[in-house]
Amino acid sequence: MQTVHTIAELRTVIAKQKAAGKTIGFAPTMGNLHEGHITLIREGHKHADFMVSSIFVNPTQFGEGEDFDAYPRTLEADSTKLEAAGCNCLFAPSADEMYPAETSTWASVQVHNITHRHCGADRPGHFDGVSTVVTKLFNIVTPDVALFGKKDFQQLAVIRRMTKALCFNTEIIGVETVREESGLAMSSRNGFLTVEEKDKASTLYQQLCAAKEKVLQGNTEFEQITNEARSTLTDAGFGAGYFTVCNASSLEPATKNDSSLVILATAQMGGARLIDNIDFERSQ
Ligand code: PAF
Repeated sequence: MQTVHTIAELRTVIAKQKAAGKTIGFAPTMGNLHEGHITLIREGHKHADFMVSSIFVNPTQFGEGEDFDAYPRTLEADSTKLEAAGCNCLFAPSADEMYPAETSTWASVQVHNITHRHCGADRPGHFDGVSTVVTKLFNIVTPDVALFGKKDFQQLAVIRRMTKALCFNTEIIGVETVREESGLAMSSRNGFLTVEEKDKASTLYQQLCAAKEKVLQGNTEFEQITNEARSTLTDAGFGAGYFTVCNASSLEPATKNDSSLVILATAQMGGARLIDNIDFERSQ
C-alpha cells in the first residue's frame, strides 16, 4: 500500500491508475479504524479495482467543546490494518494541506432540508463540515464509487443528496453496520467507554430492535414507542439523546403511510456520544 500526504501526490497516483483503465473506490475515514472501516475496504474491492482510503480528523465538523482534541490519532496501527485489508493507497493529509490558511474561509458546502434535524440539531454546523471535506476529497480522489457506513445514517443520507445535487460522478454505497457480539455498533468512540459502560451500551441497539418489532407488528403510535424506548434508556443509565422513527429517505418524522422507515438514535453513555439506527420496510 502506498501512503501519500499531499494532494499533488495523490492526484498523480490516481491519474496513473485511471490511465491504466482502473476504476477507483474511496473510503474516507477519520482513523482509529475498527472492523466497520475495514469492511468498507473489502466491500469497495467488489465495486472498484483500486481502493483509496483517507485518514483525516476533520476540524470543521467538530463544534466547540466537542472531542476534536481527544479524538484518537492512531495512524501507524490504522495503516497496518488498511494494508492487511487490501487498501491500495492511503491519503493522510495534514490540516494545512486540506485547509490552507489562505483559502480555508473562501467556501463551504451546505446540504439543505436534511441537516437541521437529529445530529444536525445536536451539533450545529457538523454536516456543513462533513459536506465540505467530502466535497474536497471527492474533487481530489474523483472516485467511481465511495463507501460510507450505515451506522451514520444521516451522514450517508446527506452525502447521497450532496452527490446528486452537485453532480458528482460517484456512486455512493451504504455499507451495513458492523456490531460487537452484544449488538453494540462498532465505533471509534467506543474506546471512551469503561467496561461497565460498554456492557450497558448494548441496550441502545436492543431498544432499536424492540421498537422495530413493535412497528412491524402494526403499531403506528410512533411517539409512544419512542417515549418507551427513551425511558428504558434513561433507566439503563444513558444521558440525553434522541430516539425517533423517520421516513428513511427524507429523515422527517414517519407518518402512518410511510413504508421505508429508519429509527435513528443517539444517547450519551459516560464519555461517549453513541449513535445507532435500524432501517427496515413495513408492509401497509
Ligand atoms: O464518518 C467519518 O468518519 C467522517 O465524517 C468523514 C466521512 C470521514 C468526513 O470527515
